[in-house]
Amino acid sequence: TDDALRQAVGLIREVPDFPEPGVLFRDISPLLADGAGLNAVVSALGRDIEFDVVAGVEARGFLVGAAVAQEFGTGVIGLRKPGKLPAVADRVDYTLEYGRATLELPADTLRAGQRVLIVDDVLATGGTLGAACRLVRQADAEVAAAAVVLELTALEGRDKIMGETVRALLRA
Ligand code: PRP
Ligand code: MG
Repeated sequence: TDDALRQAVGLIREVPDFPEPGVLFRDISPLLADGAGLNAVVSALGRDIEFDVVAGVEARGFLVGAAVAQEFGTGVIGLRKPGKLPAVADRVDYTLEYGRATLELPADTLRAGQRVLIVDDVLATGGTLGAACRLVRQADAEVAAAAVVLELTALEGRDKIMGETVRALLRA
């Protein structure tokens, strides 16, 4: 319910100056540790979206993404930081709020034509979700939506993923 969701987002912890001075980090770990909180977030992320598989972004997107997949009866794919996967289907480099990064799609996971729900904890500059969307499109699959718990609106990350449906449970 909306009420459960409101309580859940109240559990997000704000950590100043992490990972570097001036950045206010929103940590959803306490929310995920709460049974009702996790349940509310998982239901809200996938509700009324038609998708065949979930792609969760390392690292917190793994936790939320796997829970969403289980709730809605799909499989889950982990989009990973470089150097972790034994077999890589494709990779995309992108710019982050604090540095550069790469996301990799594991081999033999995503099939052409599948509708993918991309899941992560936070949408900040949009670099990460933008890269995830590119990985999906480059596999000739379709982005059903990109869904996050929290969107930091001041960074205008949504603009980097234009043309895709973006769902954020909370805007700050
Ligand atoms: C954080 C967060 C998102 C991303 C959002 O992850 O979890 O994935 O940044 O930022 P963006 O919209 O500017 O791309 P981070 O890369 O810090 O690593 P982690 O998830 O492994 O902790
Ligand atoms: Mg992340």
